[in-house]
Amino acid sequence: GAPVEVDIGALQPGDKITVEWRGKPVWIMKRTPEQLASLKKIEGQLADPNSERTAYPTPEYAKNPHRSIKPEVFVAVGICSHLGCSPTDRLQPGPQPSLPADWQGGFLCPCHGSTFDLAGRVFANKPAPDNLEVPPHTYLSDTRLLIG
Ligand code: FES
Repeated sequence: GAPVEVDIGALQPGDKITVEWRGKPVWIMKRTPEQLASLKKIEGQLADPNSERTAYPTPEYAKNPHRSIKPEVFVAVGICSHLGCSPTDRLQPGPQPSLPADWQGGFLCPCHGSTFDLAGRVFANKPAPDNLEVPPHTYLSDTRLLIG
């Protein structure tokens, strides 16, 4: 499939959009400073906090605590690494049914309850074995993103 170019100039902190690439949903989310800060608080609860697993290798430029090129802009394939359902947004922090204690915001897979943080990192002891895939991507300019 062809690469997909996306203008993210209008994306505000907290916004998340979905584009299609190779028939897959790709999420682009602009995280707030609070959301970025929350990533550190839950590292002990994650299966692969440093994205070292290799089933869906994380590109080198996203092997960092925020799993992205620009810290605030998260780009990920919105498909659960368990059996391929699409996780839903659970962006509000705080206690909620079906979510781990000390929830900081993230994503819940409706099929078998896997949970992911705001960098797509899977919580431990959930059926999904891997973090959400970060697709190959690059910036053509400050606001033009090329996926693929
Ligand atoms: Fe997501 Fe099973 S497909 S938890």
